[in-house]
Amino acid sequence: MLVHAITPNTTYEFATDVRAGLTKPFQKELPSKYLYDDVGSALFEVISHLPEYGLTRADERLLRRNSHDITERLAGPVAVAELGSGSGRKTRHILEALCRRQHTRYYPIEISRSALILCERELGDIDSISILGFEREYLDGLLEVAAQRRNGQDLLVLFLGSTIGNFDRPAGIQFLTEVRRILQPGDSLLLGTDLEKPGVQLLAAYDDELGVTAAFNLNLLARINRQLNANFDLAQFKHEARINHVDRSVEMHLRSTCRQIVSIPAAELSIEFEESETIWTESSHKYSTEEILVMARSAGFRCEAQWIDREWPFAENLLIAE
Ligand SMILES: C[S@@+](CC[C@H](N)C(=O)[O-])C[C@H]1O[C@@H](n2cnc3c(N)ncnc32)[C@H](O)[C@@H]1O
Repeated sequence: MLVHAITPNTTYEFATDVRAGLTKPFQKELPSKYLYDDVGSALFEVISHLPEYGLTRADERLLRRNSHDITERLAGPVAVAELGSGSGRKTRHILEALCRRQHTRYYPIEISRSALILCERELGDIDSISILGFEREYLDGLLEVAAQRRNGQDLLVLFLGSTIGNFDRPAGIQFLTEVRRILQPGDSLLLGTDLEKPGVQLLAAYDDELGVTAAFNLNLLARINRQLNANFDLAQFKHEARINHVDRSVEMHLRSTCRQIVSIPAAELSIEFEESETIWTESSHKYSTEEILVMARSAGFRCEAQWIDREWPFAENLLIAE
């Protein structure tokens, strides 16, 4: 697999984003995309196997059971782009179904280089596939994939694992609208969305007994230490998952257990934390099946079909660009 690597100064960008997020006036924040360095991607893989985290298994069940139906609904020759592929493990079902009828070009788009490498290892053995990974942000990567499109070829974009839920609702619609703008009429988007479920189930999923999600969250501070020479004392921060009933989301925070000052030289920042103050690191919004249809319509898609997992409420939505 060829990997088109990111060339710009990513450390500078990371430092700028860390500085902006930690100096916000009311709630300190860090963008969730920075959870995924080599360590974070490996930890996310483990999370996807945890008994409490039923999301990945539900997504995988839907793809396994319905891959034939899903790909049968795509008429012409199709190239596949995946936004935030991770290891690509679940994607095998779709790719195998497509590769049975045509040679398939698969373009995983990832900011995590280690996830891209894992993805090639995971899927490289499929017959009649060529894989070209892009180490890029979602939309930059999709623009490059669209530029490689051949005449008469449709694009199938995969956005699985309910990663859309990391955007708040207006930003999610805005993101889907931007994806739609890059596509042509008739292209499709397979969108995985986690559905609303009881708070206890969600809290367990985002704060597992083994502490893997806590490690995943704390690794963001460890990453700032490694890449920006900071001196976060990880023992002085605690992982916290909380339900936001207004936004219908689960939030991950890192709570400072004491009053402390942290220095981040590469971001030219020395920052004070009050005891109990938190850094908000991720949100995962949960959906109703009807609202997904409305979101799709506002972004310029029609919903061709929706498959629902009842064991762990989750919806796979096949959206067609209008
Ligand atoms: C929640 S994980 C989901 C992985 C996989 N799709 C799944 O369903 O298991 C999100 C993935 O998106 C990648 N990612 C996060 N933000 C990104 C961005 N802005 N651009 C490209 N990839 C991103 C992460 O590296 C991570 O592998």
